[in-house]
Amino acid sequence: MKITFYGHASLGIEIGGLNIIVDPYISPNPKAAHIDVNALKADYILLTHAHGDHIADVETIANNTKATIVSNAEIAGYYANKGFETHPMNHGGSWTFDFGKVKFVQAIHSSSFPDGSYGGNPGGFVIEGEHKNIYIAGDTALTFDMQLIPLRTSLDLAILPIGNNFTMDVEDAIIASDFVECDTILGYHFDTFGYIEIDHKEAVKKFFDAGKDLMLLEIGASIEL
Ligand code: NI
Ligand code: MN
Repeated sequence: MKITFYGHASLGIEIGGLNIIVDPYISPNPKAAHIDVNALKADYILLTHAHGDHIADVETIANNTKATIVSNAEIAGYYANKGFETHPMNHGGSWTFDFGKVKFVQAIHSSSFPDGSYGGNPGGFVIEGEHKNIYIAGDTALTFDMQLIPLRTSLDLAILPIGNNFTMDVEDAIIASDFVECDTILGYHFDTFGYIEIDHKEAVKKFFDAGKDLMLLEIGASIEL
């Protein structure tokens, strides 16, 4: 499994030759100006919620690639009405796709579209692919529901928001990593706007002092699991 950070909460995940894009917000992000959205490959687009900083490039990528949009039922319905291929889910449900199994899990946040349309309830994804399992938290507060995840899935990586203000801060993300029983963390949803700028060294040190490994990738950089 290869995971690429495209800035903010945008990810590329490659599993067994299939490509998944998560929460694409690339073209409006000046820090991601070196990423060409039109060059991205996608078989699936996973969306945690409907906020503009998670869906900005969905239609461009879906038009280019014919990718299937996977999200909650309301977001899937919104895109199905526009003629896109979709797969609706809701909290607690899972589906086995050709790249692996996806479970849509709880996130504490909100989820309206930029145009005011109802975006259902926000979520995160647990992906069991090949021999590696990951949790993509989405925008969320710390919540005890995270403790449910390791009851079913042993995680190799937790992707957690750490930027504070709209989501968990670093300290809460450390507790979240305890809740999901995973000490390898990729931080996201930081630095994009003034509200969520963080001190990278301090964040990494806080995780290190808690016995955990926080990775912060340059935009466009990848890790292999
Ligand atoms: Ni949000
Ligand atoms: Mn966000």
